[in-house]
Amino acid sequence: MTESELRDAICAHGRLLYGRGYCVGSAGNISVRLPDGVLITPTNSCLGRLEPGRISKLDPSWRHVGGDPPSKEVFMHRAVLEARPEDGAVVHLHSTHATAVSCLAVPGDAAPPIPPLTPYFVMRVGRSLPVLPYSRPGDPAMEPAIAEAAKGARAMLLGNHGPVVRRLALMLRGLPGLRALGAAQVDDLLATFG
Ligand code: 13P
Repeated sequence: MTESELRDAICAHGRLLYGRGYCVGSAGNISVRLPDGVLITPTNSCLGRLEPGRISKLDPSWRHVGGDPPSKEVFMHRAVLEARPEDGAVVHLHSTHATAVSCLAVPGDAAPPIPPLTPYFVMRVGRSLPVLPYSRPGDPAMEPAIAEAAKGARAMLLGNHGPVVRRLALMLRGLPGLRALGAAQVDDLLATFG
């Protein structure tokens, strides 16, 4: 596909994912590998309303060379694309149900966060679905852990990372093992994002 076709494809997939409710507001980001760099959705953009000409372009050294300023999760996309040279794209979403699982699963636990209930889970997600410990959104300190997890898995859950929705609180209410953010993590988020 040409770069122009890939820009259109990012917008089309963004609309589809947003329409299915897998991300809300300006959550989520998509990147695609190019022969001369990477395309990535701009920071604070809504996946349902992306514009092909405004998608950020990064050079092979991950420097911003075109379009709007890139997602703050560039480091996450870099970690996965560099760890998985055979893969051409990364999609990061804030699905309410996946986030619910990430608030219950114990990072590093040998038991999988979602058992292989159906063939399609195994066929699409694979053998393992790592759960990473909580980290502030956009914190580049996560990059080594993401890169390590991506070597053996094509999907992963980021602990307690997801949307602002009452649905999540209701879904998880009273469940054993529920893990919320601690006071230090809340202070860190407010100091960083206001
Ligand atoms: P960006 O708007 O910077 O892409 O961040 C959204 C997001 O999903 C953070 O996890």
